Parts: sequence; structure tokens; C-alpha cells
Amino acid sequence: MILKHTIDRIFEATDIVEVIGEFVTLKKRGANYIGLSPFANEKTPSFTVSPAKGIFKDFSSGIGGSAVTFLMEHEKFSYPEALKWLAKKYGIEVEETVDAPEDREAENHRESLLIVTGYASKFFEKSLWDTDDGKAIGLSYYKERGFTDATIRKFELGYSPDQWEAFSSQAIKDGYKQEYLEETGLSVKRENGTLYDRWRGRVMFPIHSFTGRVIAFGGRTLKNDKTVPKYVNSPESEIYHKSNVLYGLHFAKKAIRDQDNCYLVEGYADVISVHQSGIENVVASSGTSLTVEQIRLIGRLTKNITILYDGDAAGIKASLRGLDLILEEGLNVKVVLFPDGHDPDSYVRLLGSTGFKNYIEQNKKDFILYKTDILLKEAGNDPIRKSEVIREVVESIAKIPDSIKASVFLKECSHILDIEERSLISELNKMRAAKGKKEYQQQQNRASRETPPEDYYEAAPPAEAAILEKAEPYESQEKEIVRLLVTYGGQLINWDDIANTYIGPFMIASLSDVAFEHPVYKEFVDIYHQEVEKGSLPDEAFFINHSDKKVADVVITMLLSQYTLSPNWYDMHKITTSDETKNMKATILTAIFHLKKQKVSAILRDLQKQLQATKIPEEEEILLSQFQHMKKVQKTITDYLGIVITE
Ligand code: UTP
Ligand code: MN
Repeated sequence: MILKHTIDRIFEATDIVEVIGEFVTLKKRGANYIGLSPFANEKTPSFTVSPAKGIFKDFSSGIGGSAVTFLMEHEKFSYPEALKWLAKKYGIEVEETVDAPEDREAENHRESLLIVTGYASKFFEKSLWDTDDGKAIGLSYYKERGFTDATIRKFELGYSPDQWEAFSSQAIKDGYKQEYLEETGLSVKRENGTLYDRWRGRVMFPIHSFTGRVIAFGGRTLKNDKTVPKYVNSPESEIYHKSNVLYGLHFAKKAIRDQDNCYLVEGYADVISVHQSGIENVVASSGTSLTVEQIRLIGRLTKNITILYDGDAAGIKASLRGLDLILEEGLNVKVVLFPDGHDPDSYVRLLGSTGFKNYIEQNKKDFILYKTDILLKEAGNDPIRKSEVIREVVESIAKIPDSIKASVFLKECSHILDIEERSLISELNKMRAAKGKKEYQQQQNRASRETPPEDYYEAAPPAEAAILEKAEPYESQEKEIVRLLVTYGGQLINWDDIANTYIGPFMIASLSDVAFEHPVYKEFVDIYHQEVEKGSLPDEAFFINHSDKKVADVVITMLLSQYTLSPNWYDMHKITTSDETKNMKATILTAIFHLKKQKVSAILRDLQKQLQATKIPEEEEILLSQFQHMKKVQKTITDYLGIVITE
């Protein structure tokens, strides 16, 4: 258990924009920051962060909360893990209650696996630096490859002893559970139940999570034997999903954001060599073709990917299709080819850092133009194959979500392909039409959820109004009450006839005869009521951090959807808004009366039904007097609201 005052200090120190900024590219928009949702695939940013309030809301996935919530959702941290991560970031010493050592068993499962891989990583490092074999075989191999001590330490490279059980037996001796050793794939079980080491006599490359914890390994053989696999990698596990991981990303993320570009290479050695040369914005997909998840990992940091290909890669053509995936995610793709026989690792060592950088600058080519070139060369003079090339190229261009960018490519490709731009455009439009139909359907599905429409940030007020209109009438009235309580509840009332009280308690008292129907708004008002009874005034922070997640989320959503309007939106559209704070009394009372009017109408309808149904004269009399009473109430309300009832 982390002590309360430590938690408070962590929350005080935390800058939510800075924290989320490590994972999501944020842009300032008015008082808030916005970015693309890291939890959903979206083209228009709906992810909103409010530095002033210390909260975020992702309108695509519905996730929202504090920096801690973000880390729990994004990094899959537990609550204490998230707090510790923040504490580390802000240099805060974590004080915990002393009865903590419920040993490894008490830790959750994931954490147990992470502890085991972390332990293994240290074991392989020790074996590299402190054993005779490690130094003679492992370390000298790395040195031969040109890795410096600092690089070897930074990437936590290691060596697995060339014995069957060196690691497994040490781990068991140190108290690590057999099941965790197996689950992480560090050890393999024999038929007789004993364990042996997955890696023996290999140089070890630990694979880090985004936040830098070791989640898996790749072990390279030092033999030239073609019958043994060159690399043996960890199997998939609860902490390691190959398709969601990019090798080196933890070390590269800052540079990727700073340089606004990510170099993509193929192997572990390429990442390390290029990084060592001073180009730190480099990651590897580790031998597999790039997955959508990996592209999105990069896409949160930059929209620019530069792929560094081996010159000898016969797979280049095969990989072309895979690159369309990157275009589809809205990223710009450039390609650099190395001379035959070279990969980035060998080439950076040959040219040195400056020469390598120059080479990249001079040889990088836009992927679409590059693809056009390659396919065209291949097709030669065959007209049928050439028409296939046109189709394939336009297919790629159609994947680009930005239509201005797409049209630039169309123009360039029409030159290369020696074909009229018009024909390319018509081909593109055909593809777009097919694609558009699919997207329209998706959008329809999306619209029925909470998600704001595409142009949300420019047109939030109508969107909000549309949502309100669609909602149950009582729901929008109840929502308005909640909004006013959250926004103005703590303000002192100073009206001509009422003074010396706060808006919150005043509203709660005025609504004591109203039963809220919407479960979450009801819960909110109940909580507010309880707090008022206790003599305290719950503020935004109180609700944002409330343990009832639904209540917290309603408040977060409300706070962020209101203040995300671009400040000059109203000017731009020549709309004048009445400032609700100018006449606070009218704002508050109107909301209260609107809700009451709804409720009264519902009661009247109900009484009417009962009147029609009843056969007992006494009951009829009671119902009738109730009906007349409610009619009077209704009249008072409508008089106030100045609305004439037509029903
Ligand atoms: P490479 O064979 O290009 O490896 O495979 P490399 O990293 O350049 O290694 P060196 O330079 O020969 O030492 C590229 C990547 O493909 C994966 C690894 O992630 C490797 O880094 N791979 C390759 C495997 O997973 N298994 C293999 O057997 C081979
Ligand atoms: Mn290599």
C-alpha cells in the first residue's frame, strides 16, 4: 500500500500533458490539448487533455480520467504500478506501509512474469560481464560487431551460458516459480518435469516494453551452422505479444518525437548500430512484416516513417503491399535502399554516422514513387502488365486519407507512368466509391455511440445539440442539472432575493422533490446530496477522482466536451452566444424548472391514466385533487418559463 501523502505528492507533481505526451502526440487547441486516440483507430483527433483540470477524455473509446487512469489503460499498469511510474518520473520517493512483502505470490500474474524476465535479463548481463565464457565469447562478439560498452549496457545485452540448466536452476534456487519460468518461455519443460534453458551459448537481446521493462528476448547463435536457427525468440506470453512490439521503441521514442520521423529497420543489430551512431529514432519490426498495431505505435509519435531496406532483400516486392497499411493509417512513408549486400548495420559502420545520414537524405524516396518505379521496371513493355501496375499504384494512392496529398501523388505518378492524370483520377474515384460505402456504414454505427462527428472540434455546439435532441427528454434536462452542479456548484449566490448560500446546495434543495431517472445522473445527485449533508461542497476534482467510475466519467466527459470548442468558433460562424454566467439566476432556475416541468408532465399523464382506470369514487376524488394540485404546479413553472402549454 502506498501512503496517502505520497499519492497526493504524486498527483501534485504530475503534469498530465507531459505524461500523456510520452505516448500521444498532442497539439494545443485553446485551453486544451488534442491528439489522435491511442485506444481507437481514428483519423480526426477526439482525444482531449485538459492540463488545468488534470484530466483526459478519449471520445472514440470512451476512456477518460486522470494521468493515472491513462497509464493504467494505456500501459496496462495496475494502480500502484501507475503511481510508481509517475513517482519515478517526478523523482518522488514512494513510501509504502510496511506490511507489504506478501512475497511474489501476492503480485499479480503479469507483474510476476515481468519480474521473472527482469531477473533473467540481469542474469544474462551478469553472465556476459562477469563470467569467463561471457567475456571470452559474448563480449568479444559484441566488440567485434563494433558495439561500445556503453551501448551494450544501454541495451542491456547479455549472454546465455552454454549449459543446459545454468539459468533455470539458478532461478529456481533464487525462488522463482517454475510456472512463471515456463510461461515466459525462459525455460522449457522436459518430459520428466525438469526444466532446461531455452537459450544456451547465445548472445541475448532483451526486448523492452514501451516503458522499458524487459518482456522477451531474442538470442543469436554464434555458430555459422545453417542447421540451427540464427535467432531464437521468446514465445508469445501474457506480457509479450509480438505484433504489438517494436524492438528499440523504448530507447527511440523521445528521438522519434523530436525528429518527427521514425526509421524502420529489420533487425536487432541494425537498431543498435544505427542508434550507436547517433541516430536514435530507429526501431525494428524484428523479422516479421509490420503489423497495424506496430504502425499505430509509431503513429502516436510521428506521422513519418522511413524504411531502411537491406539491398539484397528479395522480399522488397513482397513487402510493398504491406506498406499500403502504413498509408492507410495516414502516415507518410519513405524508403531508402542500401547497396547490395549491405544492411543498415553494416552500412553505418562502413560510412560512419555523418556519411550514413547523408546517404539517407540523398537516397530516400517516397514510397509510392518508389513502388511505381519498381513495378514499372518489372512490367517492361507488356501493356497488360502495365495496366496492372497502374491499378496497383492507384490502389496505394487511394489508401491515403489526405486527399490533397493523394492528388499530388496522382500528378507525379501520371508522369512516371506516362498516362493522363484524368485516367488515374477516374480509377481512383472508382476505388474511393467502393471504399466510401464501407466507411459510411462504419460511420453510421459510430454515430450511434458517444463519439463526436468528424468535425467535432470545429462544430461542437450543433453536434452537442443533436446528441441532446436524440436523447430522452428527461435525460437532457437531468444532464443539464449535473452540468450546472459541476460547473457552478461552488459559486456563491448573490441574487436580489437569495444570498449567502452556494449554487450547489441551493440546487440540491430545490430539486429535493425530483426523482432523477438516469441511473448515473441520479447517482451523481445522490452523491452531491450526501456531501452537502456532510457540510462539504464537492468540486470537479472530487468527481473526477470518484471511485464510481461511471460518475467520474460523466463529469470528465462533460468538462472536456464543453471546453474543447475552439475559442474563435463563434466568431468564425458569426454566432453570438448568450453568456450563461451573465444571468446566473435565470440559468439555474431555468434548468431546474425545465426538469420539473418534464417531471410534472409525466406525473400528470400518469394521474390521467389512473383516473381513467379507477372505478372507486373515493380514489377518483383523491386522484382528481392530486391532478389539480399538479396542474397548479405546472402553471407556476410554465409561468416562470414563459411557455404556453398547448397540450
Ligand atoms: P537478420 O538475419 O537480418 O538479422 O534478420 P540481423 O539482426 O541483421 O542479425 P546479424 O546482423 O546477422 O547479427 C533480421 C531480424 O529477423 C529476426 C530477428 O529479429 C532479426 O534481427 N530473425 C532473423 C529471427 O527472428 N529469426 C531468425 O532466425 C532470423
Ligand atoms: Mn545484420
